[in-house]
Amino acid sequence: MTHTRVGIIGAGPAGLLLGHLLSARGVDNVILESRTREHVEHRQRAGVLEQNTVDVLRACGAGARMDRQGLVHEGIELRFDRESHRIDFPSLTGGRTVMVYAQTEVVKDLIALREGPLLFEAEALSADPDTGVVRYRHDDGQHELRCDFVVACDGFHGIGRAAMPSITTFQRDYPFAWLGILADVPPSCQELIYAHHERGFALHSMRSPHVSRLYLQVDPRDDLADWPDERIWDELETRFAVEGDWKLERGPITDRSITPMRSFVAEPMRHRRLFLAGDAAHIVPPTGAKGLNLAAADVTLLARALTGGEEELLGGYSEAALRRVWRAEHFSYQMTSMLHRDPHQTPFDYRLQLSQLRYTAGSPAAQASLAENYVGLPLS
Ligand code: FAD
Ligand code: DHB
Repeated sequence: MTHTRVGIIGAGPAGLLLGHLLSARGVDNVILESRTREHVEHRQRAGVLEQNTVDVLRACGAGARMDRQGLVHEGIELRFDRESHRIDFPSLTGGRTVMVYAQTEVVKDLIALREGPLLFEAEALSADPDTGVVRYRHDDGQHELRCDFVVACDGFHGIGRAAMPSITTFQRDYPFAWLGILADVPPSCQELIYAHHERGFALHSMRSPHVSRLYLQVDPRDDLADWPDERIWDELETRFAVEGDWKLERGPITDRSITPMRSFVAEPMRHRRLFLAGDAAHIVPPTGAKGLNLAAADVTLLARALTGGEEELLGGYSEAALRRVWRAEHFSYQMTSMLHRDPHQTPFDYRLQLSQLRYTAGSPAAQASLAENYVGLPLS
């Protein structure tokens, strides 16, 4: 049986960043990942890094390519009623901004920098919170890893959460999903556009000056086969339509997926030797781009606690992380509710939604609140 100080289950952004932060502080750790490196490096997901995430990546020496290739964004556009409204981050948040840099690239950078053991195609089968023993399958055999601490960074469908003996969960499902596409076409905007339309929400994001990332609110029962390329582009064009001569450029679609939307929190995030971090403990609907950033915030807090190793610090992890998690849950819920068309919405609800959008577009106080949450509240 092998021994390590910290056993990490999962090589998504949470597990990889935690491993990097711990190694940089001389704490030995092993990462087990059930999928292949190829799969992990090419899974299309988030794209916006809040200021704290950028700062953490830079501080631990993982920010060089991000600083060369990432796109600093100083605001977003809200679109509704065929009008555009800009929200300026630096002037509303004391100079803070966000970075558009894909999750795939963060993951590639962290894997390239990895010095300690990182086992791909190593699936954790169980994690014991009392003994710290993780059983896993690798190379057709079963193995055991004895850990002083185990951190389950194994996403929403992992085994870590189920290994916690007593946990309370909170959940909200939404009656819509996001159809996301990646397209080989320069973005038709310089900043992200969050569009509210009577036919549903749309988001124009990007990955580089040559690659666009776009999302459409769709019915969660929809299948990708229901959405041929032309239908996707036509629908995007309708929802982004605005007075003036703005035009949505089309291009070949290179990746597509439909993601259901939910809010989910598991409390607490620790039992004895076992900790939860990232999507293993919480899910936010993607509006507002908080999922990846929350994962980074969890492991930043946890790395500090595990480096000290004192019970006092470790004991404070769950409470400190959950405080931030609930703030992001509320923000993501608010952004989602403000921007999507709920099929069960009454005319009264619709007018409230438009009122909220107009207030946000017109009030510096409302904009400051959105901006401060979007760029991310400082890590305590
Ligand atoms: P994950 O990235 O899920 O990583 C968990 C890792 O654990 C995976 O690599 C998995 O293979 C591994 N694993 C699971 N079980 C085991 C096991 N038993 N043994 C070993 N390894 C295991 N957020 C946004 O902000 N914007 C978006 O547009 C967006 N789009 C998304 C689209 C999809 C389809 C999904 C699922 C999420 C999306 N998110 C988005 C959320 C964001 O990507 C996540 O919050 C982020 O990936 C969380 O990182 P994580 O490391 O906690 O979890
Ligand atoms: C992206 C995803 C989001 O959820 C969001 O709010 C903004 C951008 C993206 O994938 O680029």
